[in-house]
Amino acid sequence: MENISWLLFCYYLLSCLSKASLPADTLTANQSISDGQTLVSSRQVFEFGFFSPGNLKNRYVGIWYKNIPDTFVWVANRGYPVTDKSGTLNFSRDGNLVLFNGNGSVVWSLNSEEGSKHPILQILDSGNLVLSDESYGGSSSYIWQSFDHPTDTLLPGMRQGWDLNTGLNWYLTPWTSADDPSPGNYYYGVDLQGIPQLVLRMGSNKLYRSGVWYENRFSGGPVLVANSLFKPTFVANKEEVYYAFEAMDSAIYSRIVILESGLVHHFSWIGDFQWAVLYGIQKDHCDAFNLCGPFGVCYIINQSPKCECMMGFTPKSPKDWEVFNIFGGCVRIMPLECQRGNGFVKYPGMKLPDSSNL
Ligand SMILES: *[C@@H]1O[C@H](CO)[C@@H](O)[C@H](O)[C@H]1NC(C)=O
Ligand SMILES: *[C@@H]1O[C@H](CO)[C@@H](O)[C@H](O)[C@H]1NC(C)=O
Ligand SMILES: *[C@@H]1O[C@H](CO)[C@@H](O)[C@H](O)[C@H]1NC(C)=O
Repeated sequence: MENISWLLFCYYLLSCLSKASLPADTLTANQSISDGQTLVSSRQVFEFGFFSPGNLKNRYVGIWYKNIPDTFVWVANRGYPVTDKSGTLNFSRDGNLVLFNGNGSVVWSLNSEEGSKHPILQILDSGNLVLSDESYGGSSSYIWQSFDHPTDTLLPGMRQGWDLNTGLNWYLTPWTSADDPSPGNYYYGVDLQGIPQLVLRMGSNKLYRSGVWYENRFSGGPVLVANSLFKPTFVANKEEVYYAFEAMDSAIYSRIVILESGLVHHFSWIGDFQWAVLYGIQKDHCDAFNLCGPFGVCYIINQSPKCECMMGFTPKSPKDWEVFNIFGGCVRIMPLECQRGNGFVKYPGMKLPDSSNL
């Protein structure tokens, strides 16, 4: 009996000690975080604080996996680093989070329209950094949340698309380079033109489209549908249009990232030691947007793309025909006449036609 109570005593003491030494997951009014201090989510999944990417001295405020080195999932001051370790985060009088450098200049601030008298900032185990007010009493409505302001990463539970009521657009932009998190020149988000689909753009140039969502996947997206790791969804109604994915096992980390090169990969942390690419949206050259032009069909032959016209079509420019280049697309050989026996031809395995110009 004595042994057991002694054991229990030890257990309680240890658990109290370890709890006491854990960093908190919240920051409240009149508290601050200086460089070196962090917030850690309750189950120790994500950490929020200052970091330097690469070997630079520049300091950024962001979120990373607590137990995985150098995987940053969100950055606050993307283009606005603190140039030394003198940065501080605290709340302004109106309840917005503000980042100061050592000489007291504002480097970045979280501009939520709605202020707060008793702000609470909390890092959740989902990787969401949320701002609420003590008077909300832990309700799930937030004044601001990092999930509404994605950087280069989509985590389970984040949305990519549009809140049609507020006009808020959730999209990804890559880092400029491995040591510079400022936004690169790519946009990966939902295009509302025509039937909504995911698009990747560089400037105004469309580079990729997913095709429309059909049942459980995009018609031209990865063939990987719901599986043991994650379940993708696409929601389109009057309120919002978005893509998201759910992790089937919250212990297996999973994230979609747009890399500096514009490649989009879905990574999963496999076997406790590495990020594995589950799929990339750019599988081969035929995934490039509009490569073969209207009514062209793209094939991969010896690893390079080849264009052909669909049945009943011919290259628009005969010159192209000579050089086997029909990137300009195809036109009908004879006008369409449904009454005179024109019918349908089945082309399997293709992206459904783009409706964004209709
Ligand atoms: C923060 O500090 C100010 C000044 O000391 C005080 O008036 C205010 O009540 C404090 N706010 C909270 C939430 O503790
Ligand atoms: C304050 O910091 C900014 C940015 O680091 C720097 O440009 C400026 O010279 C500093 N001002 C003073 C008074 O040190
Ligand atoms: C926040 O930090 C800055 C810079 O250290 C300081 O000047 C300011 O007084 C702080 N604000 C509050 C409300 O503590």
